[in-house]
Amino acid sequence: MNHLKHVAIIMDGNGRWGIKHKKSRNLGHKAGLNTVEKIIRSSVKNKVKYLTLYAFSTENWKRPTNEINFLFNLLNDFIDQKINDFIKNKIKLKIIGNINPFKNKLKKKLKKSEQLTKKNNKLQVNLALNYGSKFELINAFKKISKNKKNINVKNIEKNLYTSSIPDPDILIRTGNTNRLSNFLLWQIAYSEIFFEKKLWPDFNENDYNIILKKFRKTKRNYGNI
Ligand code: IPE
Ligand code: IPE
Ligand code: MG
Repeated sequence: MNHLKHVAIIMDGNGRWGIKHKKSRNLGHKAGLNTVEKIIRSSVKNKVKYLTLYAFSTENWKRPTNEINFLFNLLNDFIDQKINDFIKNKIKLKIIGNINPFKNKLKKKLKKSEQLTKKNNKLQVNLALNYGSKFELINAFKKISKNKKNINVKNIEKNLYTSSIPDPDILIRTGNTNRLSNFLLWQIAYSEIFFEKKLWPDFNENDYNIILKKFRKTKRNYGNI
């Protein structure tokens, strides 16, 4: 049986869900937050140690301003409402991605939340915000070359946002779309990938448990036989 440490999720399908059920993409994003809560709870129950959630990509800036603003307000409210639960349940929050362009107030809030939860060890939630795998890799190469170090696996991994995090065992993408959209391209070299038809707001604990169960039974070869 495979040991499970790290689950990464591309939470896709909020917009389509919102249009279908509420005639509003933004309300789909709001509904998606309920799934985030459920999957965090279920990850704790399943003894997952790292849960990485793709919340905003470096390409998502192409979206209409009204949607971008709505997403950032949701993020802000989510932190306000959930930080105490994170503390109570010993969940560590880590942001991966480039938060430099964010408003100062939000940046401070995110940093403070990381600080407040940094000693927690039940589950680590990595929230991917303004995250792009290509940007992450380019920066890693730049740092290596600036420090005149060798380009090798160890030095590259040391310079990724995920430096202290084991590679994902599982990558899930909801929303019936079979692509990676610039997410963790280096880190998922040997992850088991599950493309899920359901839209993110419809995804539930049962769907999650089915995937974890399948993973536990999968034979992982890493090139061997
Ligand atoms: C994913 O849902 C969430 C974010 C990118 C923030 P989408 O907003 O991409 O939903 P669809 O794919 O348009 O349905
Ligand atoms: C990927 O979803 C990004 C997040 C889930 C945050 P997108 O909806 O942005 O991906 P594409 O544009 O359809 O590939
Ligand atoms: Mg999408």
